[in-house]
Amino acid sequence: MEKGSIIKLIEEALQARKASYSPYSHYAVGAALLTKEGSIIRGCNIENASYGATNCAERTAFFKAVSEGKKEFTAIAITGGPAGDAPDGFAYPCGICRQVMREFCDPGSFQVIVAKSIDEYESYTLEQLLPKSFGPDHLGA
Ligand code: THU
Repeated sequence: MEKGSIIKLIEEALQARKASYSPYSHYAVGAALLTKEGSIIRGCNIENASYGATNCAERTAFFKAVSEGKKEFTAIAITGGPAGDAPDGFAYPCGICRQVMREFCDPGSFQVIVAKSIDEYESYTLEQLLPKSFGPDHLGA
């Protein structure tokens, strides 16, 4: 990915993070998902008093996109850290979110960008974060 596109995606994730609803963990996460056509869908974590009903930022972005008919993706940027402060570390996607990515993305080419800022980020393929994975192909889908 071009550096300009990465920076734009990180900026969108930082904006998405502002909408985080995280009154229990006070850990705010924002994600920005890039579709193959070039549109960007934002997501934030949405917590619940019944903690298990919480939805991660990445899955919010994926479910928003798929529910609007978008199913092909190039990359996702993720930013997270204590609410009210700038991200202090890299917020790697949880296992469930990695599996949701696996449902819709090519493991070898989909880029997962974890960022503290537009200057400090790491980029991985989904395959690197979720090796030897189970996916739709195993079920003939
Ligand atoms: N969280 C995410 O949004 N994405 C992840 O991949 C890991 C965790 C959220 C869920 C919860 O609201 C908070 O971070 C603390 O676990």
